[in-house]
Amino acid sequence: GAVEQFTVPLTVPPVLAPYRRTKAADYYRVTMRRASTEILPGTRTDVLTYNGSFPGPTIRARSGRTAVVQQVNALDMPTSVHLHGGNNPVADDGGMMDTIAPGRSRTYVYENEQPGATLWTHDHAHHMESEHVYRGLSGAYLLGDRNEDALGLPSGAYDIPLVLRDAAFDENAAMVYTMDDADNRTTILVNGRPWPYLKVEGRKYRFRLINSCNLRIFVLALTDGTTDQHPVQQIGSDGGLLAAPAETPVMVLSPGERIDFVVDFAQYAPGTKLTLSNMLGPGPTELVGQVMRFDVGEKTPDSSRVPAALATLPALPKPTVERTFELNMDEPGTGSHQAYINGRTFDANRIDTTIRWGATEVWTVANKSTTIPHNFHTHLVQFRILERDGAAPYPAEAGLKDTVLLFPGQVAKLQLTFNSHRGVYPYHCHMIDHSAMGMMGQMKIV
Ligand code: C2O
Ligand code: CU
Repeated sequence: GAVEQFTVPLTVPPVLAPYRRTKAADYYRVTMRRASTEILPGTRTDVLTYNGSFPGPTIRARSGRTAVVQQVNALDMPTSVHLHGGNNPVADDGGMMDTIAPGRSRTYVYENEQPGATLWTHDHAHHMESEHVYRGLSGAYLLGDRNEDALGLPSGAYDIPLVLRDAAFDENAAMVYTMDDADNRTTILVNGRPWPYLKVEGRKYRFRLINSCNLRIFVLALTDGTTDQHPVQQIGSDGGLLAAPAETPVMVLSPGERIDFVVDFAQYAPGTKLTLSNMLGPGPTELVGQVMRFDVGEKTPDSSRVPAALATLPALPKPTVERTFELNMDEPGTGSHQAYINGRTFDANRIDTTIRWGATEVWTVANKSTTIPHNFHTHLVQFRILERDGAAPYPAEAGLKDTVLLFPGQVAKLQLTFNSHRGVYPYHCHMIDHSAMGMMGQMKIV
């Protein structure tokens, strides 16, 4: 059924309360189960959920404080819960093969030894992750830290996760999943609601964009119905705060990526309606060209601020190893559904890259031989983008990143330091229909 845009209020996923707190850790319990939820107004849709919530509840964790999350699998298929962007031992990383059998549970321990950041959890069970994530197994994990507390950024009710995704529905409001079917997923959801609106006060808000789509890339701008683009202040990327706020007219967000930004609605007259528009397909502009709307209300007192210096990024040690990664894929229409990195499709029994613990490496990742965009995501490490097609990275990409977008023909140079955990971790295209097709490799840190 057709949904009228901007008629459904934005909802914010519930914040998960710990069932127990000790001096050093918070304990959570989550049940993965089926649920029926209202997505399209007046209808019910069957979804897969963390705790019945679509998307899952938000975990608010603290840097340096452990979160212990018991995941109970009440579904009838194996799952694996990955904390995307997290610096965790292999046993707690939610690997593809390290699944939770139906009826069983698994406790993940997140030490949160990393700066505050907008992270997210999602399913990673091999060959099922793309359908599981599509049907609802994802949720925000917002890590705060002391540095951030001291900055005075908008907080509490003015710090809102916006989990973006698309979906295809049939006449009965059932979600339709077909592998690699980007073209038909033309309903845009924010926090599980179609093209919602949010009434905002005339003051500053912090928003955490998370692209949880399987395939869709967003190119977002705040517009007021005329051709104006209203720049936002981007304050963070995948792995945490930027060194300094970056005025960003257009926010590019591929699957898995996050953008943390602040808008001061006090600069707009009450009654102004600002649309978060999307300038990239596939799909009809009337549908995929809009994401949500902010309806500006009266000015309210606001003591929050966006300081000119936000965070100190880790120093870039001198790299000692260089590697190249070429993304390949059988062309659409050939009937083959295989994808590759450096000519090899994923094999759980193969180590593709062996890395010495402590090493700093430069990885050149190229999307030179396919005709569609891909991205490249590493588990375990937050990297830095040194260059994009030979030029300096955009300011919005100059901070900590775990996922980098590569349009056809693009090449990015990344710098990575492997100084936390040892073991076998994957790297892959996060257009997760593609990783399910094999665009994934494994690195072993020894
Ligand atoms: Cu967000 Cu390997 O995943
Ligand atoms: Cu891809």
